[in-house]
Amino acid sequence: MRVDSYLSSNCYIGKSGIEGLGVFAKKKIKKGDMILIWGGRILSSAELANIVKKAPEFDFFPVEVANGFYIAPSNIHQIDDAYRINHSCNPNAGIKGQTLVVARKDIHAGEEICFDYETSDIINMSFICTCGSKFCRKKINGNSWKKKNFQKKNTNFLSIYLKEMLRSQI
Ligand SMILES: C[S@@+](CC[C@H](N)C(=O)[O-])C[C@H]1O[C@@H](n2cnc3c(N)ncnc32)[C@H](O)[C@@H]1O
Ligand SMILES: [Zn+2]
Repeated sequence: MRVDSYLSSNCYIGKSGIEGLGVFAKKKIKKGDMILIWGGRILSSAELANIVKKAPEFDFFPVEVANGFYIAPSNIHQIDDAYRINHSCNPNAGIKGQTLVVARKDIHAGEEICFDYETSDIINMSFICTCGSKFCRKKINGNSWKKKNFQKKNTNFLSIYLKEMLRSQI
């Protein structure tokens, strides 16, 4: 479904081997190609908490864009396909800016497309990862951004928000 976001026409939504639904490549996607752009409405943590009280499953989708603020689907009943992208600890896609996801490497037709959630979200996230990668960190809780090896691995794919958080820590 497309509401406020954009998902490349080279992608489709399918059943994921990782969790629920996911985003897949319809045909080869080249390194650097745009995969999706999230759109929607900006919610404060308090607004998000209020919605999640009534609709707990909505907590899956918001992406952190600033301290205490999220971009989220505008309607809890209409989830844009772009928000179906799963997490991987060895991702083939990554964030550029705040709301854009691009291919980190060439992606083959049929491959699931994932990014590393900890390159954008540091609060309000906790799950046991089932990405299956040999680099899997298992507990995903938003704390990895503080680690030097994580920063090095993801240096070109940290959200602007996380880059600012790192700068203000130095
Ligand atoms: C935005 S949803 C991803 C799309 C979701 N699979 C669906 O069907 O709508 C984010 C949630 O999916 C789950 N998820 C995503 N990647 C995962 C992973 N690698 N391992 C386990 N759960 C994952 C987590 O519960 C996470 O909060
Ligand atoms: Zn993992």
